[in-house]
Amino acid sequence: MAGKKPRPLVAGNWKMNGLKASKKEAAALLKGVAAANPKCDVMLCPPATILSLFAEVCRSSKVKLAGQDCHANTSGAHTGDLSAEMIKNAGAKACIVGHSERRADHGESSTDVKRKAEAVYRAGMMAIICVGETAEERKDGKTLKVVGQQLKSSLPQGADHKNTVIAYEPVWAIGTGLTPTPVDVKKVHGYLRKRLIALLGEELGGKTRILYGGSVKASNAKELMSVDNVNGALVGGASLKAKDFLGILAAY
Ligand code: PGA
Repeated sequence: MAGKKPRPLVAGNWKMNGLKASKKEAAALLKGVAAANPKCDVMLCPPATILSLFAEVCRSSKVKLAGQDCHANTSGAHTGDLSAEMIKNAGAKACIVGHSERRADHGESSTDVKRKAEAVYRAGMMAIICVGETAEERKDGKTLKVVGQQLKSSLPQGADHKNTVIAYEPVWAIGTGLTPTPVDVKKVHGYLRKRLIALLGEELGGKTRILYGGSVKASNAKELMSVDNVNGALVGGASLKAKDFLGILAAY
């Protein structure tokens, strides 16, 4: 790939964690980010219930907010769901779609993920589209085939480096403390880069960020983040405490 490397993004996915009192943790993170000024974009993805509260806290900060999921429709009779427009209205600039926990717990297919990503674009936000193989698929040597297929079927028309970020998250590495070796990460990210270039063209495919996610912590961030074509991280557990998250941001 020619040209400048894209600016990295480190996003903290709080999943189903956090109450109003957690704004203290968000404030501590903002303070730490302002002091350290890492050379990457920083994002927090709190649960939707505290998104607007965090938006207040983050107002004059570089830290941006994202939702964790959205419905594909704008509005309507979908009890318990939230549209991309609602997520944006609460203060988000981006939204995760296709996280493996959504794919597994809610049976979301790549077709569903694509419709959600389209909704994210429609609302004027950036989609963080997740792909990743299960332990079983990895054992069967299907990693590249699986992530390539997920990428192709989840990526909407009109995707580019501004409205889209890809997150490679091996399902077996999420919340387990296990991570692929840097050699394995390089292989998958290199493959995703090639596929992105094939789908979006040299320019846009080359500039679209590919994050690594799955048991990223302060002690492994530097090694993982320095792998070719790793343009940041999607962090779960280690993003809940400002101190841990700042330790990861220190990789930049
Ligand atoms: P983890 O989660 O960092 O807790 O492994 C990553 C993710 O699911 O985004």
